[in-house]
Amino acid sequence: MTLSYLRNLLFLLDLFVVLVHSEDLNATGEAITTRFWDCCKPSCSWTGKASFSHPVDTCNATDDPIADFVTGTGCGTGGSAYTCSNQHPWSVNDTLSYGYAGIFLLNHPDTEAFWCCSCYQLDFTSDPLKGKSMIVQASNTAFDINTANRFSLAIPGGNTTSHDGCAKQYGVQESVFGQTNSGVASVDDCDNLPDNLQDSCRWRFDWFKDALYPTVNFKRVVCPTDLTDKTGCIRTDEKAFADGQTSAASAPSSTSPLFAGLAAVLACLVLV
Ligand SMILES: *[C@@H]1O[C@H](CO)[C@@H](O)[C@H](O)[C@H]1NC(C)=O
Ligand SMILES: *[C@@H]1O[C@H](CO)[C@@H](O)[C@H](O)[C@H]1NC(C)=O
Ligand SMILES: *[C@@H]1O[C@H](CO)[C@@H](O)[C@H](O)[C@H]1NC(C)=O
Ligand SMILES: *[C@@H]1O[C@H](CO)[C@@H](O)[C@H](O)[C@H]1NC(C)=O
Repeated sequence: MTLSYLRNLLFLLDLFVVLVHSEDLNATGEAITTRFWDCCKPSCSWTGKASFSHPVDTCNATDDPIADFVTGTGCGTGGSAYTCSNQHPWSVNDTLSYGYAGIFLLNHPDTEAFWCCSCYQLDFTSDPLKGKSMIVQASNTAFDINTANRFSLAIPGGNTTSHDGCAKQYGVQESVFGQTNSGVASVDDCDNLPDNLQDSCRWRFDWFKDALYPTVNFKRVVCPTDLTDKTGCIRTDEKAFADGQTSAASAPSSTSPLFAGLAAVLACLVLV
């Protein structure tokens, strides 16, 4: 075996490992969307759900962050942790909005460990939203449909599902947040929501055009800090994912220092 042969072999091995590694973190496909705002403690707010800086921030009934991620959800169980009001959607411009979602991805058996706190670009593929995109951070999980990729968009007044969390968090009738499965019926009903949720309730009738179950093409993207600033949650694989994006975009000769080092060690072992 000549040295150059070996070097080529190791280079290919290195490249293979880099590609496999970034594909592990990559996720793309078609998805359905729903909407929800149940006020409950988001699923990615528990410790140990994934490898991240810390879980998604939760808030108490007066919207102050709760430092203790063991605090139970305010939904049904007598806990006191709720969704922080600032984890809502907002428009960046006419074609781009930011927000949060409860998600489910097919073909990822490690579920929340794979998606909690990762970010996705959603390119809408159905009218009236075709041509618009959202970037969302997965702060929650949508396990109740597991036959399709799904992003349930967190939109105040968008759909309380069947929980009593909003009534408990804000001391109002649950109906203020609209009907189970459909949310508030008109933009005027947004006036009844707590002050800090009204604008994002109106976003649904304005930027989002009150779309029902719009479909999307999704792909994982590096999280914008505007999103992670509001959850405090950054995945530990975020940097590796970002590096993978860069090396996928640039010439294939860019190999990561880690694997180059590994290759060098292997080369020494073989030569000895
Ligand atoms: C509201 O949430 C429920 C439960 O996830 C879902 O079945 C329903 O389709 C949602 N409604 C809308 C309008 O997204
Ligand atoms: C929420 O937390 C803040 C800060 O710790 C505290 O001052 C406030 O009383 C808490 N609200 C409730 C309803 O417990
Ligand atoms: C919206 O903002 C994004 C991100 O800054 C930018 O790439 C895009 O061109 C903007 N679109 C319009 C219509 O201004
Ligand atoms: C992720 O998948 C998309 C679509 O297949 C592709 O364009 C992109 O290069 C992939 N990124 C990585 C790091 O493999």
